[in-house]
Formats: sequence, structure tokens, C-alpha cells
Amino acid sequence: MDVIEAIATRRSIRRFSDKPVDDRMLESLFASVRMSPSWANMQCWRFIVVRDAAVKARISELTYVESFMAPKGYKANPSKAGVAEAPALIIACADPQQSGELWGQQYYMTDIGIAAQTLMLTAHSMGLGTVFVGVFEEKKMRLLLGIPANIRIVGLFPIGYPRDIKKEAPPRKPLGEIIFSEKWGSQEKSPS
Ligand SMILES: Cc1cc2nc3c(=O)[nH]c(=O)nc-3n(C[C@H](O)[C@H](O)[C@H](O)COP(=O)(O)O)c2cc1C
Repeated sequence: MDVIEAIATRRSIRRFSDKPVDDRMLESLFASVRMSPSWANMQCWRFIVVRDAAVKARISELTYVESFMAPKGYKANPSKAGVAEAPALIIACADPQQSGELWGQQYYMTDIGIAAQTLMLTAHSMGLGTVFVGVFEEKKMRLLLGIPANIRIVGLFPIGYPRDIKKEAPPRKPLGEIIFSEKWGSQEKSPS
């Protein structure tokens, strides 16, 4: 699968079959993730792989942040079940001190975002599914997993074989809405 095809066909996968994912697959996955670009090549990322069913179940309970999700009408994180049932759960952490900060922009988020895309596309190209889960109780999770206070938890990635094959991607904005020509606000002549 080439990269354009992988980007076009990847979907967020939120339900998983019980087919196991062996350690060698995860090794290949991380070999790919490790090649992601990062601020000054500082590679601020650290990953925890959780396979223990009880810990995954506890983490899935922590994927609801009431103050954030309830006003949006969510009664649960859409990935709650997937976090518990995936054979492996990757916790993506970052050390902000090992990345850049400029004009208030914290580049550890960018570093993890890029690594996350590498992870998601590589998993997809291997026939695995995953989803970026960005809503969770960070402090409780830090306690549960023994993560030091200076380390941020940026995302959770349940990894496994997809239970359902999804075809349609959620809609994307038209290019004419997101691309300007020469200066802010001027639309391209022939937006698609
Ligand atoms: C930073 C970030 C945080 C996200 N957090 C969640 C989440 O907490 N729960 C969830 O089910 N999906 C989450 N998603 C997945 C998005 O909902 C999904 O990528 C988007 O709807 C587009 O669908 P697609 O990935 O299938 O193309 C997150 C995605 C990103 C990039």
C-alpha cells in the first residue's frame, strides 16, 4: 500500500476483533513511528504498551471527561469500548522539556501529532486499526500508570484487527474553504 492510498483509506477504528496482535507487529509499528520527524530531532515521545485486560478496562473508564463531554451531548467517549477490547493499548506520552516552545506554541503536541499519524498509517498498512483518543482523565491515568508529573499524556491508541470494515470517511471541508491564494481569505480560482 503506498502512502497516498494509506491516507485515503485509513479510518478511525473503534471496535476490534479478538484476534491477537503479536509483539513482532508492534515492534515493526514502533520501528516506523520512531522515524517520524520531531523538533530538533529530540524525539520527546515515550510510549507505554498496555495489554493487561484489567488495566485497559480501568483506562476505558477514564476516557470520559464529564465537564468537557457532557455539554457536547456525549454520554461516553465513542472509543470507550474499543479501548477495553483492543488487544493492545498504546499510551503516547511526551516530555515537553525535550521539545520546543516558541511564541506560546508547544511543539511537543506537534511532535506527538506527527508520530500519531505515522502510527495510524503504519497500523492501517499492516491491516490493523486504531483511533486517536484525545479525551481522558490525564491525572488519574498518570497515577494508574506511574507516569511522572512532568510528562504529558497526549493520546491513547487502541490497536487491533478491525471488527467492522468502514468504507465512507466522515465528510471533509471543500478545498476552496481551507486553501487561500497568496493571502489570507482570498480563495483559489477554481476550488474543487
Ligand atoms: C487529536 C484527536 C483527538 C481525538 N479524540 C477522540 C476521542 O477522544 N474519541 C474518539 O472516539 N475519537 C477521537 N478522535 C478521532 C476523530 O473523531 C476522527 O479522526 C475524525 O472524526 C475523523 O474520522 P477518521 O479518523 O475516520 O477520518 C480524535 C482525533 C484526533 C486527531
